[in-house]
Amino acid sequence: MMHVRPVTGSIGAEIGGLDLCRPLSPEDAGALRQLLMRHQVLFCRRQFLTIPQQKRLNVVFGPLYRLPYVQALADEPDVIAVLKEATETNVGVFGGDWHSDFSFLKIPPAGSILSAVEIPVVGGDTLWANQIHALANLPTELRRKIAGQTAVHIGKPYGQTEAPAMASRAGASMRMSRGDPAADQEVFHPLIRTHPESGQEALFVNPIYTTRIAGFDAVESSAVLAELYHYAWQPEVCCRWQWQAGDVVIWDNRTTLHYAVNDYDGYRRLLHRTTFSDGLPPA
Ligand code: SIN
Repeated sequence: MMHVRPVTGSIGAEIGGLDLCRPLSPEDAGALRQLLMRHQVLFCRRQFLTIPQQKRLNVVFGPLYRLPYVQALADEPDVIAVLKEATETNVGVFGGDWHSDFSFLKIPPAGSILSAVEIPVVGGDTLWANQIHALANLPTELRRKIAGQTAVHIGKPYGQTEAPAMASRAGASMRMSRGDPAADQEVFHPLIRTHPESGQEALFVNPIYTTRIAGFDAVESSAVLAELYHYAWQPEVCCRWQWQAGDVVIWDNRTTLHYAVNDYDGYRRLLHRTTFSDGLPPA
C-alpha cells in the first residue's frame, strides 16, 4: 500500500509502497497526481527504472516533452542523460543555479522526472523550492508591486547575447547547442502564475532565464528581482534530496524552482531525465 512521508513542512514527500517499474493502476496514478499537486515534489527510493518504464511513468503526468538545445540519448529522443564525468572538474553543472526548467519557452514544461543511475559517494544533492509558499511569504507591498506584472525570459545559456562565461557552463558530457539567436528571443510570462489544476498561485521568475520585469526600468527591475529571490529560496520553502542509485524524483515545474548542487568533482553522476507537458502557457 502507498504511504506518504512529507520531507519538510513546506515541500516534498517521500512515497513508499509503490513499484514504479510496473504499470500503475488508474487509482494509484490518480493518487500520485494529487500528491504531486499537494507536495510539488515526490521522491521514491530504490526503483531502478529502465528507460521504457520511466517513459511510461512520465505519461501518467503528461505527454513526453522533447526539449530543445540539450542533446538527448542517441536512440531515445525523449530522454536526456544528466551527466558529469569524474574527469570533469572545475566546470558548471546542468541546472547549477535556481531555475524553473526552460521557462524561456512559450510553453514551459509542466514537470520532469529524474531517475538516478550513478550517484557520487558524497554530494550531488538537488534542492527544490516551493514557489506557492514563496509568493505567500512576500510582504504585502512587494506582492502588490508585482501583481499583474510580466517578466521577460530568454534562453541565455543557449543564445548569443547573454551566453554564460565558459567557467559557469555545464561540462562536455552535457551536449548542448549554443549560440542560437532564436534562444535570445524575449518571452513574456506573468510574474505570478496560476496552477491550471489546483488554481494555486505561484511566483514565476528565476535567475537563469529571467532577464527583467517588463513594466519596470532597469534599476527597479533588478532591485525587485533581488528582493523576490530573497523569498524564492529561503530555507523555509526548500527541501534537499540526497540521491541514492535507483531513486526517482518527480516535480512540478510550474510551482517550484530547483538547483543541482555542484560539489562532487572527481565522482561520476548520471541521471536519466524525462519531461512532461500540459500544453499550456503560464497563465
Ligand atoms: C536539472 O536541472 O534538471 C538537473 C537536476 C540535477 O541534476 O539534480
